[in-house]
Amino acid sequence: MNDKVIKKVTVIGAGFVGSTTAYTLMTSGLVSEIVLIDINKDKAEGEVMDMNHGMPFVRPVKIYNGDYSDCKGSDIVIITAGANQKEGETRIDLVHKNTAIFKGIVGEVIKYNNDCILLVVTNPVDILTYVTYKISGFPKNKVIGSGTVLDSARFRYLIGEHTGVDPRNVHAYILGEHGDTEVATWSIANIAGIPVDKYCDECHGCKDKLSRKIIYENVKNAAYEIIKKKGATYYAVALAVRRIVEAIVRDENSILTVSSLLEGQYGIEDVCLSVPTIVNKNGIERILNVELSDEENKLLKKSGEALKSVIKTLDL
Ligand code: LAC
Repeated sequence: MNDKVIKKVTVIGAGFVGSTTAYTLMTSGLVSEIVLIDINKDKAEGEVMDMNHGMPFVRPVKIYNGDYSDCKGSDIVIITAGANQKEGETRIDLVHKNTAIFKGIVGEVIKYNNDCILLVVTNPVDILTYVTYKISGFPKNKVIGSGTVLDSARFRYLIGEHTGVDPRNVHAYILGEHGDTEVATWSIANIAGIPVDKYCDECHGCKDKLSRKIIYENVKNAAYEIIKKKGATYYAVALAVRRIVEAIVRDENSILTVSSLLEGQYGIEDVCLSVPTIVNKNGIERILNVELSDEENKLLKKSGEALKSVIKTLDL
């Protein structure tokens, strides 16, 4: 365990997700130094200028645009660069293009830093987390994907809306791929210990009982819907990344559905996907073995297999 204070974060990619992530970290007060890197230097510079002009309104933090050599000394390197999903595309459709981009990026980062936590956000995030793990040679605890932290947040928000309960008090997880095969684990979802599908019996707050199918579809298809309406998603994912950074920086031992390498848990191995995981200053502290229903276990395995079949097509 290293005891130094974690404070420098590098964000690679100054597109919608990278810039919003940097901005979200700027306003969080969690870190003291943020570097923004993009192949389009003007874009990174413009974003940095825009953020710096807000400096009198936030806690002190140094924000600058840099190059890969600035990864040196970073405690966390967040990778958001790559092609993003367009209308009609799945996240998996981006895999070959973004794997090629990642080979370049990760190769550059490790020239300057082999002791940071690599936090992958670019899609398809689970595959790219695996690619990053393989290329970097980093220990498995230090390669993390944002995974389904966002999907679990969407799930909690929608259950919260349905039940009229603060989403922070809804405990519910989306596991597996951050994408089309993701799994809603209703069997462990609860509000104050009450399984969510029983909550409606207690609540009498609405006429319609919780419709699992509609909520799951809305979670799974959220990005498609948002991309259709506004071209990209970035606010909620940036907040999800901020939450992961917080768990690391503050050594919280928080349980988050981040993506990381599985080695036999849930009968799944040699693939990265999301399951409830303890996150602290070491990155992945421990993957939890949560008891799921047989159906959920089956779907989780299928999600892992779907990701593996994509990994097989890559030249790693
Ligand atoms: C989404 C993108 C980040 O789900 O994959 O919004």
